[in-house]
Order: sequence, then C-alpha cells, then structure tokens
Amino acid sequence: MNSFRLSVQGKTWRKDNYLISTDHTSIPVADLINAFASDEFYWANEISTDAMKETLENSLCFGVYDTAVSTQTESARHASKFIGIARCVTDFVTFVYVTDVWVDSGYQGQGLGSWLVKCIQETIEPMPYLRRSMLFTGDWERSVPFYEKLMDMKVMNEPQRGQGLALLERKGRGHPSYGHEGGGYN
Ligand SMILES: CC(C)(COP(=O)(O)OP(=O)(O)OC[C@H]1O[C@@H](n2cnc3c(N)ncnc32)[C@H](O)[C@@H]1OP(=O)(O)O)[C@@H](O)C(=O)NCCC(=O)NCCS
Repeated sequence: MNSFRLSVQGKTWRKDNYLISTDHTSIPVADLINAFASDEFYWANEISTDAMKETLENSLCFGVYDTAVSTQTESARHASKFIGIARCVTDFVTFVYVTDVWVDSGYQGQGLGSWLVKCIQETIEPMPYLRRSMLFTGDWERSVPFYEKLMDMKVMNEPQRGQGLALLERKGRGHPSYGHEGGGYN
C-alpha cells in the first residue's frame, strides 16, 4: 500500500463536540442510504446496501459526527450521530474526484460544511503526485464560490468551446436522468 493511503487511514479532526473521521467503517450505511434517498441528494439515486458498502470501501471518506448525541440503529448502538459526509474517489496518487458532500439539514449553516471541505483540502494538498482534484456542481451561485474559496478550485469550462479545458460527462445507468439530454442533474 502506498504511503499516502496509509497516512490518511483513520485520520480525525475535532471541533467542539463534532468529529470528522476518514474511517469509513464508522459510517452507518443504513443512515447514509436514507440520506441518499432524500431530496438533499438531488444528484444521486438510492443504492443498495452492498453497493453502498463497496463505494465506501473504495473511496477516501470523510464522515462527520455529533459526539454529544448517541444513536441506536437496527444492528448497533453508536456513540455519536452521523451528520455528514464527503467522499473522494481517488487512486490515492494522481487523481481525486470530490463528491457526495452533505451536511444534515439540522446542522447546516454552522460552519460544518466549510470545515469538512477544508479537511479534504488539507488532506490532499500534500499528495506529491496529485495531478488533479475535481468535482461537478450545478449550483453556480452557492457551491462554485464555496469550492473556489475553500479548495482553491477554478472553473474549467467557462471559456468558449475550443478554448481552455472542458469538463465532459456521460450519464451512466445510475444517474437520475439516464437517457435524457442535458448537462444538469435532471
Ligand atoms: C453544501 C453544504 C454541505 C454546506 O454545509 P454547511 O454546514 O451548511 O456549510 P457552512 O455552514 O460551513 O457554510 C455554508 C456555506 O455553504 C455555502 N453553500 C455551498 N453550497 C451550498 C448548498 N448547496 N446549499 C446551501 N449552502 C451552500 C453557503 O453559501 C454558505 O456560504 P457562506 O458561508 O459564504 O454564507 C450543505 O448545505 C448541504 O449539505 N447541502 C445539501 C447537499 C448539497 O447541496 N451538497 C452539494 C454541495 S456541491
């Protein structure tokens, strides 16, 4: 295993009673599936438990927890409440794709989302061979300035066709609007 992957395993950050952890095994899969099924995850469809476990295992995950609240799920008691996530799809060497950035609506507007994104940037910034971190968002008003400010990202596809770089996509079968034309989520 390369040293970056090892160095980020089980990394944690604490602020007041909140915790961010890269330990994907702490994420309660059923709670995350419920979040995926909600309107807040407008860019995703609900996925099965096995598919969710596989995607968490194969990603660099940042789970957000309220350590002042314990919860009980069908299978286990958790010492803290799962309230957010961000997921990096990465080879742990050259490429990072940031997705599924979410903070529970009851906890939004308190700085947790900004802290989460800063933790990602702090983690990936030292990667010696990283060529690109990227993400897609359709929220030009709020999310674009958010990532420009906190992750120092630049919009790549503002120039006219034929100039600069373009972000291209093909919607797969798991996309909410698979088979439909258009560059947005729907
Ligand atoms: C985006 C999100 C993670 C921010 O979390 P948060 O804990 O509310 O973030 P903070 O309290 O640190 O800061 C809020 C900032 O996020 C910005 N923001 C970025 N994207 C936003 C969004 N989709 N919805 C609301 N606020 C958003 C706000 O404009 C605000 O900026 P400001 O500090 O300049 O006023 C949260 O709003 C969320 O989970 N939204 C639903 C899921 C979503 O849309 N995720 C995709 C983001 S690309």
